[in-house]
Amino acid sequence: MRILSGIQPSGALHLGNYFGMMRPAIELQEKGEAFYFIADYHSMTSLFDPAERRRNTLDVALDFLACGLDPKRAVFFKQSDVPEVCELTWMLGTLTPMGLLERCTSYKDKTAKGIPVNHGLFAYPVLMAADILIYDSNIVPVGQDQKQHVEVTRDIAIKFNEQYGQTFVIPEPQIRGETAKVPGVDGEKMSKSYGNTIEIFGDEKTLRKKVMAIKMDSRTPAEPKPDADQNLAIQLLKVIDPGVGQEWEDRLRAGGPGYGDLKKKLFESYWESFAAARQKRAELLANLDYVNGILAAGAAKARTKAAEVLKRARVASGLE
Ligand code: ADP
Ligand code: TRP
Repeated sequence: MRILSGIQPSGALHLGNYFGMMRPAIELQEKGEAFYFIADYHSMTSLFDPAERRRNTLDVALDFLACGLDPKRAVFFKQSDVPEVCELTWMLGTLTPMGLLERCTSYKDKTAKGIPVNHGLFAYPVLMAADILIYDSNIVPVGQDQKQHVEVTRDIAIKFNEQYGQTFVIPEPQIRGETAKVPGVDGEKMSKSYGNTIEIFGDEKTLRKKVMAIKMDSRTPAEPKPDADQNLAIQLLKVIDPGVGQEWEDRLRAGGPGYGDLKKKLFESYWESFAAARQKRAELLANLDYVNGILAAGAAKARTKAAEVLKRARVASGLE
């Protein structure tokens, strides 16, 4: 069974990325042959600074490895080290109806807001389909917001198979219910583009401040709070440590604890739960040759598989 997922190097990774995609992906690496990559081609649709792209790419590599991606089990690589995926993107694009892409929220949301979009952003789901199909992927662990893209991938693969004969494996998205949508410090979905993130790795003081600034209502501590499950700090605490989160939810429900103490607990739980990863990240940062070696070895393995599937598609469609 092949498991595949990607993450864009478009900014510092946050708890939404970790609980929505990285942790499930890391757990799945035990269950089959996992391919995980840094989607640097995808980042070109929204990030135009070369130095920033290089820096972010390295950061994603460090973050993912520090969080537990095991290069002995998973094939870890940079998307653009397998340029075959661009050829397949072209082939798939010729079978992709315009309407299918016009319905994709990434494009639809931007145009609705009057933001000019480039062709790359419009064609983004086709590149993602190529990413998935070129490795014969069965399972794609992603957060809720990427589900539509995996469905588009399935549509395109079915169409190709109907047109040119059985070529691609039809993939399934895998979305974890409880952490499908981690809220940010403002209550909206946590996202790099909303400026509401709690980074996985960052400066302690800045992050503590961010957590302590989460807005609460004006009820007194003693007042029982039957709606404690709606409290943002509780929701985040439950994502980080379900047991402790439930305990504080019950305490809040009964009345007693103050919001300041709750937020302190939230910060501590978060900070402690990444202590080992922080240590690991510092070690990796001091050993960049090792990190680059992992990506190079991963790219070589991924490329071999990609070449095989691409060849199949070229033959099926009459290019060869
Ligand atoms: P962002 O919205 O911050 O730009 P990406 O679109 O790069 O994040 O998402 C990378 C991965 O992390 C995807 O699989 C996505 O579904 C997941 N993800 C991002 N934000 C969240 C969130 N708030 N809750 C759950 N999963 C998320
Ligand atoms: N679009 C995904 C995101 O923004 C990243 C991505 C690119 C991806 N290609 C993929 C995820 C293939 C899963 C499979 O999060």
